[in-house]
Amino acid sequence: MKPILVSGIQPTGKLHLGNYLGALKNFVELQNSGKYECYFFVADLHSLTKDCEPKERQKRTLDVALDFLAAGIDPKKSVVFIQSQIPAHSELTWILNTITPFGELRRMTQFKEKAGSEEAITTNVGLFDYPVLMAADIFLYDAAFVPIGDDQLQHLELTRTLARKFNAKFGETFLEPKALLTPAPRIMSLDNPTKKMSKSQPEGSIFIDDSPATIREKIKRAVTDSYKTTAYDPKNRHGISNLVLIYSAMSGISIDKVIEQSAGKKYSEFKEELAKIVIKSLAPFQAKKKKLSADAKRVSSALASGNKIANSVAGKKLLEIKKKIGLI
Ligand code: AMP
Ligand code: TRP
Repeated sequence: MKPILVSGIQPTGKLHLGNYLGALKNFVELQNSGKYECYFFVADLHSLTKDCEPKERQKRTLDVALDFLAAGIDPKKSVVFIQSQIPAHSELTWILNTITPFGELRRMTQFKEKAGSEEAITTNVGLFDYPVLMAADIFLYDAAFVPIGDDQLQHLELTRTLARKFNAKFGETFLEPKALLTPAPRIMSLDNPTKKMSKSQPEGSIFIDDSPATIREKIKRAVTDSYKTTAYDPKNRHGISNLVLIYSAMSGISIDKVIEQSAGKKYSEFKEELAKIVIKSLAPFQAKKKKLSADAKRVSSALASGNKIANSVAGKKLLEIKKKIGLI
């Protein structure tokens, strides 16, 4: 049997190049490698930790599902589903909550960043519990591998801790999953390259739906430095290194080769070339998304069959867990 791989993306906004290069593009490559049994889902339960109009949430959930399919996730090869349609995710989260130390969750960087200084008073408990739901997502499918960007590594470490804890208490039940990182696991914001590109910072993000003109304009405005030549030195020259990394990840040309090719070119010329590469690489995705958007039936039937398979796999695993802990 092939090892199982699981990953999800939250529908909290349009997907950007960080999501694409750190996760989505990799999902497609891993699927097409034929080495794994793949499950990909829209993490709409996770997205509840962020406020959103109900209608807008529905729209975004469907939009991320469309992004999956348009990027090349094939419902014949992978199970594609919507997290909230599988009740076992919520149920296992509660069970795992009861073995999760409060202190472990409290030190999660993402929680600390999102909760900020108002941590104790106004932050919703869902944000605190977010990594436990993520562990449930992974355990229900017996995943050995989880493709993610590097901002999720700490959550995966907690998942492994919970697997060990549960197994020690109730007997071998969960695998300790490993991360699969891409060569571009952290894409930085274009206007503030010391911060990661993020859905909540649209000014510094290139969205995978952006038009060629918008992409060109955003890259033109991207922060660089006062040196004259391109370089890859992410510790000291954040802006230009990020652009070189995007160039390399989008084109498949190695970083060294990108630097070699751009020797002697002005930043403005390099940016113009980068814009061309990004526009060209996203064009097939954008065309396919347009087509699929007009074919709601195909999308909903893909999701319905994915939900069905996921429910059956997750439901069985949940029964096994409930037996182990004495609920049935
Ligand atoms: P999210 O939008 O938080 O649901 O993230 C979906 C996936 O994209 C996760 O695997 C993240 O780790 C990855 N990701 C998010 N932002 C970035 C980024 N700036 N660079 C690389 N990967 C990212
Ligand atoms: N927390 C992830 C993120 O924000 C999304 C996610 C939810 C996920 N559940 C998961 C990723 C399970 C991998 C496996 O990026």
